[in-house]
Amino acid sequence: MDTHLSSTLAKPLDLTIAGETNLDLILYGLPEQMPTERELLGSGFTTTLGGSSSILAHNLSVLGVRVGFISQVGSDEMGEIALARLDEAGVNCTRIKLRADIGTGVTVLLPHGRRRHILTYPGAMAHMTVDDLDLDYLHSSRHFHLSSLFLQTALHPGLPQLFADLKRAGLTLSLDTNDDPTGEWGGVLEELLDTIDLLLPNADEIMKIAGRLTLEQSLDALSARVPLIVVKCGSRGAVVQRGSQRDWVAPVLVDRGALVDTIGAGDSFNAGFLRAYLNGQDPLRAAAVGNITGALSTLRSGGTEAYRDTALRNDFLRQHSII
Ligand SMILES: Nc1ncnc2c1ncn2[C@@H]1O[C@H](COP(=O)(O)OP(=O)(O)OP(=O)(O)O)[C@@H](O)[C@H]1O
Ligand SMILES: [Mg+2]
Repeated sequence: MDTHLSSTLAKPLDLTIAGETNLDLILYGLPEQMPTERELLGSGFTTTLGGSSSILAHNLSVLGVRVGFISQVGSDEMGEIALARLDEAGVNCTRIKLRADIGTGVTVLLPHGRRRHILTYPGAMAHMTVDDLDLDYLHSSRHFHLSSLFLQTALHPGLPQLFADLKRAGLTLSLDTNDDPTGEWGGVLEELLDTIDLLLPNADEIMKIAGRLTLEQSLDALSARVPLIVVKCGSRGAVVQRGSQRDWVAPVLVDRGALVDTIGAGDSFNAGFLRAYLNGQDPLRAAAVGNITGALSTLRSGGTEAYRDTALRNDFLRQHSII
């Protein structure tokens, strides 16, 4: 393992995340075109922890980072399963609120080779506001991360002020917007871009964020505003942009036969990247670690199953010299 995270630092948490917890129901083998009123048969089904924020919290904790997760779930079976998974991984769940008035969010995913249908019932994830966040708790960590910006609509009004306050208090800030279901890619994002230290989009998302047609143009446009941008590019690896410096970081090759799905690969990349970043490693090394932890995720269903399989995880991380 790289130098041990923050053992000498005073703060009790390395990182906090405010975000959604939901379950992913993954149904494999369905056709991409789905006529109504027909019985369509899948070939496999998995229920697993989903939600970009909760996948990241889970995998970071498994990788040895001290994670505090602020979230909300419904008081239902879905919420119970999700909480048990987070707890099992060692995530600090003391700030996860149970809500009796709304259900836990659920995403139904239908992978079709490299493309997939993603159908989400937001449930509790759309109801958390900045007033629900415990500021002392946020200040008890070195870094704050936000994922799934556009699913957490009730957070939006308070976010610019929160980010500015946290930054002033000396925390570093990172953002992974993920997709915007409205397709607008605006609103609060514009204000946040000028405060964050690190942006973690994928290749499609950065073009939407920048309003440009290519990855290169998008990086050119955003590099003056965000000091460090790391773009996840699937099987092509990742690009790191620091000021005018741009570097590609090679992927880990995953055997086609071993790849189960790429659901949560981006969140798993974030986990490895953030772990190395918080350990003070160079961004290029951090991206190389992200490529390894992203690739690991593809070897099992969803974003956390490969991380729950201790033997697989340890073998893979050892093979790539991360532990
Ligand atoms: N086929 C693959 N082979 C090797 N590595 C992969 C593959 N697919 C994904 N990865 C790794 O995972 C990272 C994230 O993948 P991707 O670009 O799909 O992110 P994403 O679209 O943000 O994913 P998510 O669905 O989690 O939001 C890549 O940068 C790469 O490191
Ligand atoms: Mg993503």
